[in-house]
Amino acid sequence: NKVYLNGNIVDAEEAKISVFDRGFIFGDGLYEVMVQINGSFFYEKEHLERLQYGLQAINIDFNAAFLKKEIPKLLHAAQLTAIDCMLYIQITRGVAPRQHSFPQQCQPTVMMYAIPKVLPVINEINAKVLTRKDFRWSRCDIKMTSLLGNVMLNEEAMQHECYETILHRNGVYTEASHSNVFFVKEDVVYTHKANEHILNGITRIVVIELCNSLGIPLKEEAIAVEEIEHIDEAFLTGTSTQIASIQQIDDKLLYSENEKGPITKKLQEAFLKLK
Ligand code: PDD
Repeated sequence: NKVYLNGNIVDAEEAKISVFDRGFIFGDGLYEVMVQINGSFFYEKEHLERLQYGLQAINIDFNAAFLKKEIPKLLHAAQLTAIDCMLYIQITRGVAPRQHSFPQQCQPTVMMYAIPKVLPVINEINAKVLTRKDFRWSRCDIKMTSLLGNVMLNEEAMQHECYETILHRNGVYTEASHSNVFFVKEDVVYTHKANEHILNGITRIVVIELCNSLGIPLKEEAIAVEEIEHIDEAFLTGTSTQIASIQQIDDKLLYSENEKGPITKKLQEAFLKLK
């Protein structure tokens, strides 16, 4: 496999990063995950714009749009130009002696790799999920590489044979460990507004647009923990999750194994047509 590292494309085994890289020492970096389907990246512009938003937020001087020209070079070298694949991009602040504040002179470390990945036509996962308190920090809008909170919360889901952990903060559901969460209540779709308590998922934005174009009422409003008893459907969204129906939340069974809600189904079908 090939890795793009600071402008060079090398064999994966040859791709070396300093142990003093601030990404390694502090988790001082950002990442993106996007998928190529039928020869083009799904919402590439939006992914690169979100990366730029993060770079500005943490004051790393790098132009994410530059990667638009670099990505095809990597895919070409990896012989993935015409293959459905997942692309991982990581930009860290770079290598510097360990001190907390941003170093004066630092060259960002830019790394990308792609691996073949075929997404299912419609996500048939009917997810069981746990709910947990969101103990992460308050800048979840920054897609940072320091994912320990997300990793610990997802590990708990795995321990309980669940697909995801959905999170609540201040009494309302925010998002999940690596996806966004939507609820349906009395034919209205709800999702937490895009603020510092969630990552504004690209798939989330696409689903909001689909609701608008299909005339499905949607509110960017959070669902309170105690409202969970009254919801009719729930689903997760994310780049590799796409739209995954939720079958069960803790002990609350929403649908049996082969069933899903009508609005979830409608959105999945409309989502499929975008690709
Ligand atoms: N996860 N919320 C969190 C915390 C996420 O990590 C992700 C994405 C999302 C959904 O964002 P998008 O629709 O843009 O993929 C929401 C990525 C894919 C990951 O960590 O692998």
